[in-house]
Amino acid sequence: MNSYGENLLAWYDQHQRTLPWRSPPGAAPDPYHVWLSEIMLQQTTVATVKGYFDKFLRMWPTVDAMAASRQEDILDAWAGLGYYARARNLHKCAQEVVQNHQGQFPRTAADLKTLPGIGDYTSAAIAAIAFGEPVGVVDSNVERIVSRLFRISTPLPKAKKLIQEKTDQITPFDRPGDFAQAMMDLGSSLCSPKNPDCNICPFCSLCQAQTRGDMETFPVKPPK
Ligand code: ADE
Repeated sequence: MNSYGENLLAWYDQHQRTLPWRSPPGAAPDPYHVWLSEIMLQQTTVATVKGYFDKFLRMWPTVDAMAASRQEDILDAWAGLGYYARARNLHKCAQEVVQNHQGQFPRTAADLKTLPGIGDYTSAAIAAIAFGEPVGVVDSNVERIVSRLFRISTPLPKAKKLIQEKTDQITPFDRPGDFAQAMMDLGSSLCSPKNPDCNICPFCSLCQAQTRGDMETFPVKPPK
């Protein structure tokens, strides 16, 4: 395993958040739980998603149950989360998984991306977390971490391709899903936009921006 993986996973084993869609250490994650949570988390905060996630699992414990429900009931349960296209795609996706994939989510990012509501970010997240595919999972928190690690001077959004490549490179083959979720935890805690806590960060010695002391310069924003 590379040093990025070693350092971050050791930190994650000590500091990971307990979240309802995460399986206990050592247990296999449920792809239906991972999918449902990642769709909800696309545009909604972790704090809000927690309650909705539990409610949805009580109402629809399996992908088959969700596929068999009425779209209207899903839209009603979604009320308050916003971006209702997500709720319509949730229902469509559940039906496609049941009708075209024997009720099993496809196991690779490329195949997941063919389903409604699943784009680049979500396909990578599900493939890594639920199925252990070693792909980089890049959201805006990860963009900040990776652009600091490598002092990426290209502004966003042009830097996205390079950030994806760098994230793919540092993602370990062992525990890629934990690595992805550890990056999310780090991005929402120590590696903050302002005043990051570099002295206790697992990447401290590996981070080029930290070494230079110009962390807050990254990610570089596009010129106005
Ligand atoms: N944001 C998006 N996916 C997440 C996850 N699996 N854990 C925490 N935050 C997230």
